[in-house]
Amino acid sequence: MRILFGAAIALAMASPALADTNVTVDADAPAPKYDKRIFGQFAEHLGNGIEDGIWVGKDSPIPNENGYRKDVLDALRAIKVPLVRWPGGCFADEYHWREAIGPKTGRKVKINTHWGYVTEDNKFGTHEFMNFAEAVGAEPYVSGNIGSAPPYEMAEWVEYMTAPIGSSLAKERAENGRKEPWNLSMFGLGNELWGCGGNMRAEYAADITRRYSTFVKTPAGQKTMKVASGASDFNTHWTDVMMERAGQFFDGIGVHYYTVPNNWEHKGSAIGFDEEQWARTLAKTVRMDDVIVAHSKVMDKHDPEKRVALLIDEWGTWYDKDPGTHDGFLRQQNSLRDALVTSLNFDIFAKHTDRVRGANIAQMVNVLQAMMFTEGAKMVKTPTYHVFDLYQGYQDGIVYPVNVETPEYAKDEWSLAKISASAVRGTDGVLRIALTNVDPKASEKVSITLDGASGKAVSGRIITAARMDAHNTFEDKDAVVPKPFGGAKINGSRLMLTMPAKSVVMLEVR
Ligand code: AHR
Repeated sequence: MRILFGAAIALAMASPALADTNVTVDADAPAPKYDKRIFGQFAEHLGNGIEDGIWVGKDSPIPNENGYRKDVLDALRAIKVPLVRWPGGCFADEYHWREAIGPKTGRKVKINTHWGYVTEDNKFGTHEFMNFAEAVGAEPYVSGNIGSAPPYEMAEWVEYMTAPIGSSLAKERAENGRKEPWNLSMFGLGNELWGCGGNMRAEYAADITRRYSTFVKTPAGQKTMKVASGASDFNTHWTDVMMERAGQFFDGIGVHYYTVPNNWEHKGSAIGFDEEQWARTLAKTVRMDDVIVAHSKVMDKHDPEKRVALLIDEWGTWYDKDPGTHDGFLRQQNSLRDALVTSLNFDIFAKHTDRVRGANIAQMVNVLQAMMFTEGAKMVKTPTYHVFDLYQGYQDGIVYPVNVETPEYAKDEWSLAKISASAVRGTDGVLRIALTNVDPKASEKVSITLDGASGKAVSGRIITAARMDAHNTFEDKDAVVPKPFGGAKINGSRLMLTMPAKSVVMLEVR
């Protein structure tokens, strides 16, 4: 009896036809690495993204390290956040760095004209940000003001951050508490120059980018990646003009693609939605693939060597604000649906690592598709955070191409592949395979064939929940968290498992 049972398993493992979805991992043809910068995050001066989200100040009763919330810092360190983009967003092109350095009492209080018309006291400035990035262990990505400041202001800011001891600006930095220069990994040449960054035409923006880029100078030995302000969605004309006219003056160009379920006037609710909204949101988020393909094609024309990186500078869901929250603060709940949005995008990025070498989810804390919510001393991690955790073994790993034969999941006019997958061999040598089942009602049998690889053991973690809009709250922090997944079986180079409905699974093959 025991032998027969064993034989039945062996037969099932040898016959992918018994599965509804067949995934092939091509370990013989590795693609460019999964750049850890793809797990970057965006922190803008917007709502409670920084104030109360990251920064509470040294005198706060909320436990902190030099003014940074301890709970948030620890959570960010735990998922090894590699990159943080700051201070905007739209905020960047109205930001004047001098207003936010030196003694806190002397800092300029301004109106944040983009986000809620509230006061911005500038207590979190260059020092607070650069030290924050260091405390997290992340690279800083600073976006310069091109829309409303002269090149000289930007050049001085770069010198202030990066010049070794010697110049007046370096001396001023030391007097303000930082003797050694910071390492400025990335510098953004404005943000959304076609919109809030100055409403420029692509041709004018290309000229401006050439001009400002000329004055971003860092000391020998410090390589700062210059990033041009990119297009939104499918505006490939922008990318075309920027690449053609200014491509030699930058190392990366951004693109922004938000997943808005309905339209900008009525975006849709973060929770309490039906299956049509579920399907619509996921079908729209996988259009990220088309966005990347479209911009990459244009970039290939001007840069066949792929020197210039495509950075998904802002991505994530954008819903209607949570009822009762401040206008312009972009506070939205985060559910299991957001977890699947995250995993689907991470799988898409894996297909394009030849061009996509960085991304920043919008945003880090309390804003849009956030990692965490805070309220006073309380903090809760979102389902999105937990997917970042699940995928962290992908950072800088070798990408293996995957082929997925899977049925379609459809609801009304919206459809997409039922199973999404990606595979990466981590820097620790472990082969990881991520799978997402977007069907909210039906499980799916999956067979995985490893071409050119095999394993002896498989373990896994899963994120799922009973409801499509399940979410974590301050009262119930563990409604959507990763749990051990023991449902996968391995026999050499063949794996079999059943993916529960609406789930994300990360397998580890050893
Ligand atoms: O992330 C919110 C805003 O969305 C950013 O400030 C802007 O760049 C984009 O339009």
